[in-house]
Amino acid sequence: MKIFWRRLLGKSLRSDLLKSLKYGVLGLGDSSYSKFNFAAKKLNKRLAQLGGKELLPIGLADDQHNLGIDAVADPWIKKLWEEIANVFKISIEDKIQENLIIEKYRVSILNKRDLYTSRLLMSSDRWIIRHPDKLDHLYEKEREVNVNIKIGSIIENVRTTSEDYFQDVRLINILLPFNIKYDPGDIIYIRPKNSMEQVNRFFKILHENNVELYSDTMVVITKKEIKVPFVLQQCLTLETIVEQYWDLNFKPRRSTMHILSLISENELEKEKLCEFASPSGQEELYDYINRPRRNILEVLADFPYTTSKINIGVLFEILSPIRPRPYSIASSSKTTPDRIQILVAVVEFKTRLLEPRFGLCSKWLSSLKENNTVVFWFQKGTFRFEDNKPMILIGPGTGVAPLRSFLLEKATEERDLKECALFFGCRNRDKDYHCREDFERLSRENNLKVFCAFSRDQNYKM
Ligand SMILES: Cc1cc2nc3c(=O)[nH]c(=O)nc-3n(C[C@H](O)[C@H](O)[C@H](O)COP(=O)(O)OP(=O)(O)OC[C@H]3O[C@@H](n4cnc5c(N)ncnc54)[C@H](O)[C@@H]3O)c2cc1C
Ligand SMILES: Cc1cc2nc3c(=O)[nH]c(=O)nc-3n(C[C@H](O)[C@H](O)[C@H](O)COP(=O)(O)O)c2cc1C
Repeated sequence: MKIFWRRLLGKSLRSDLLKSLKYGVLGLGDSSYSKFNFAAKKLNKRLAQLGGKELLPIGLADDQHNLGIDAVADPWIKKLWEEIANVFKISIEDKIQENLIIEKYRVSILNKRDLYTSRLLMSSDRWIIRHPDKLDHLYEKEREVNVNIKIGSIIENVRTTSEDYFQDVRLINILLPFNIKYDPGDIIYIRPKNSMEQVNRFFKILHENNVELYSDTMVVITKKEIKVPFVLQQCLTLETIVEQYWDLNFKPRRSTMHILSLISENELEKEKLCEFASPSGQEELYDYINRPRRNILEVLADFPYTTSKINIGVLFEILSPIRPRPYSIASSSKTTPDRIQILVAVVEFKTRLLEPRFGLCSKWLSSLKENNTVVFWFQKGTFRFEDNKPMILIGPGTGVAPLRSFLLEKATEERDLKECALFFGCRNRDKDYHCREDFERLSRENNLKVFCAFSRDQNYKM
């Protein structure tokens, strides 16, 4: 991305360089950010400066809109097709048919005999001969192509809020495979898994609707429309895919409803799904999915006749991969070079649905026990601390994590922290003052100035 921008913004580029380019830019932004759709606007302007011709005005989609990005994206895409049809003098009906499922991959189920009697050629020309047990870490395979992927093991997983406090926050101590240098402000990306409870629920819904897919069903995925992600280029049990690849907490989108409507043969369910997939049904879809934060499993349970038509290929179309989650590092590699600590707020909240909602990664992290392992990688943070300058550090709640990293590091290097002032805020001194002992010790032994605001330690809210 950086290279693309550097080249595109090059000062020596001729102003007619892109004179034969016709283009359209659709920005997917969020107007709660001060630079709303900044990248899209900049791209649109630069392409014009280099002689490109706008096929249609820039679309500025806004995630804050009640209908989400669709409010702008839908009419914009429709107009784009009209313009393309104009340029190529084709009829608009010649464009991709919308009532077909265009499957990303070719997915096949391997029976045990195939596995033992034949060897299977994958698209990447790799021969698979190993019996696919349930893998501990699907993403461990990424280490073959990415040296940055690490596997660490849990040393400690300690709650930093009192047991009677509503929120569970964890200080998680992870042992690194070897000493690694990292800096305050750096983050780690973690690959979470679905809980076994969710995995069992997934199979239960399939079986209740007579879908014959099981945890030990062996699946082989090869390229069809797009390249198969590296970790899926191996024979896997469905359980591994369900537990570690698909996000079972995923909130179905309009496109999910569209695919389900295409496989549905039940009149009532199909009608409802078509409505959810239509432009006019978006407010209703928002009420059904986004407001209560319904997940894909609940939707499949709500549409049993449609679910009964699901096959392995469709699952790859309606389910999304689990995204890795970033966490600020709360420790210093100067004091603990063989480990990292992160401070994780466990996301759990109620909606109008009976069952509480939870955050996929934070809930999974909170369940980890000593010696359990995690797949992660480091990323340089954009949050940089200047050396040798007095510092005012403001970080309430888990926002204090990178500040703790910085203060622990500085205390090891310089000992004296009298030039640093930490402003921390939470509800109660005795309930959710994370890493209190550390900050009190740094104050006592290293002269750190600590200012705390406890908003609910008195009768009035501060
Ligand atoms: C650079 C960076 C650093 C970060 N550092 C930290 C850190 O140090 N510590 C930390 O705890 N997190 C940190 N995060 C956040 C972290 O990456 C995850 O987003 C967070 O843990 C939630 O992930 P999850 O998988 O548990 O929840 P998800 O499954 O992703 O669900 C979270 C979603 O739930 C919804 N939600 C949450 N609470 C409510 C509510 N009360 N009502 C309605 N909806 C709600 C929100 O829409 C939210 O998007 C950081 C994020 C970034 C970008
Ligand atoms: C770290 C971060 C920075 C973002 N910065 C901007 C921004 O500057 N301008 C903007 O319009 N949207 C910004 N967004 C919003 C995204 O473009 C996107 O609309 C939003 O994240 C919703 O899409 P998603 O559901 O795929 O995350 C940002 C999002 C994130 C996570």
